[in-house]
Amino acid sequence: MPLFAVTTRLPDSGLELLREAGELRAADISGVLPREELLVLVAGADAVLTQLGDRVDDEFLDAAGPGLRCVCNVAVGHDNIDLAAAERRGVAVTNTPGVLDDATADLALGLILAATRRLGEGDRLIRSGEPWRWSMDFLLGRGLRGKLLGVVGLGAIGARVAERARAFGMRVAYFNRGEAPASVTGPLEAERLELDQLLASADVLTLHCPLTEQTRHLVGVRELALMKPTATLVNTARGPVVDEAALVEALRTGTIAAAGLDVFEHEPEVHPGLLELENVVLVPHLGSATLETRAAMAELAARNAVAAARGEPLPTPVVST
Ligand code: DGY
Repeated sequence: MPLFAVTTRLPDSGLELLREAGELRAADISGVLPREELLVLVAGADAVLTQLGDRVDDEFLDAAGPGLRCVCNVAVGHDNIDLAAAERRGVAVTNTPGVLDDATADLALGLILAATRRLGEGDRLIRSGEPWRWSMDFLLGRGLRGKLLGVVGLGAIGARVAERARAFGMRVAYFNRGEAPASVTGPLEAERLELDQLLASADVLTLHCPLTEQTRHLVGVRELALMKPTATLVNTARGPVVDEAALVEALRTGTIAAAGLDVFEHEPEVHPGLLELENVVLVPHLGSATLETRAAMAELAARNAVAAARGEPLPTPVVST
């Protein structure tokens, strides 16, 4: 019977698939398991379902032992996993693409609206008990119709954000290293621009690239300086894609107008400078946080684990063996 280790509390529908196919050793914790407990939990497993806070490296793989066939990340991002280390040992790695695109795109749109229409400020003002009245110049934001959405990383999630933005009357441009397929760009009427051009022309810049050595601090002092003083930056990808200290300075000095952040450079810590600013909306990594999406993520990760244990083709491999 294969042994499935699960490092965090998961929706039942995912656990059920594992129970039907083998023995389950599941952590009963909703956050990140302390490292020593994690290393004990994974010992002897055939497959481990990990979350993005679990660091999967040589130490983890050693602790799991030679029987490990697959690390199944319950996330589409996999920057927590040393893919080369897994590959060296013949351990497969899977993620959960597709099932979280809509939820994440919804949240990105929510942040775009919240940041451009100053919803956080309005909410804080009312809660503060300060007197207020409607007036012509009270808490004015910026509209979206006719504005340019700049998408960095026009993949599955980026395209869903662009689709939604089109419904709000926005135009779309993007930066990918290569051209995105015409089947994606056609309906969006999306033009590819070089990154600097995109930075200089976007009214809203939304980040959807994975975190890699190439994308770490992709948006830093220089890039922020290229952006319009009226622009809004939204990050639902990974915190370290943005130099957070540089962003604080840019928001403080008016280099850009506003930001909406779902992810943070040193998550779960948030740069103290951000907490003092009115022109940034902060949410705690909620991109895929809907009941439906989390169930779908757990189920997909479980299907990967079961397939790996049975030696069947993996539904969504990142590293195959
Ligand atoms: C992912 O899947 O990578 C997300 O960040 C989790 O919501």
